[in-house]
Amino acid sequence: LSADQAALVKGAWDKVKTSEVEILAAVFTAYPDIQAKFPAFAGKDLASVKGSAAFALHATRIVSFISEVISLSGNSATAPAIETLATELASNHKNRGVTQAQFNEFRTALTNYVSSNASWGDNVAAAWNQAFDNVYAIIFARL
Ligand code: HEM
Repeated sequence: LSADQAALVKGAWDKVKTSEVEILAAVFTAYPDIQAKFPAFAGKDLASVKGSAAFALHATRIVSFISEVISLSGNSATAPAIETLATELASNHKNRGVTQAQFNEFRTALTNYVSSNASWGDNVAAAWNQAFDNVYAIIFARL
């Protein structure tokens, strides 16, 4: 990402990044097959787990990972660090049987969440999509 694109992504992400539980709940609501992959939540009613400490912990791990990648974006010096993080994510998700289709579902749900909760326009959308394309290229080559 260019520095300008990274700034747009950061601006949007800053509006939602403390809504960890709502983000994970939105992903599970849109795509129950993702929830079904989580041993702690599979087969349970979302409303019954959403308020739990375990749910908050998982949500925070996922959102913190995204925050870390976004904080490293827009700077060629930190591109190798992003590559390392994405490679690790691909390998531990491959081990859990997560598919490319599920990663794409996750992307759709997260993009819907951010675009409805941050100020959004064509320039933000383009930067956001470029960020996902870049990281998913690394992940999908290893999944
Ligand atoms: C765990 C991030 C997509 C299923 C995790 C963790 C992080 C994370 C940080 C916890 C640390 C770890 O064990 O690796 C992400 C990000 C995603 C993504 C950033 C997309 C960009 C998905 C998708 C699925 C999934 C699409 C499933 C269908 C899981 C499962 C765990 C996990 C099952 C383990 C939960 C447990 O330990 O009980 N993810 N994830 N993830 N993720 Fe993801």
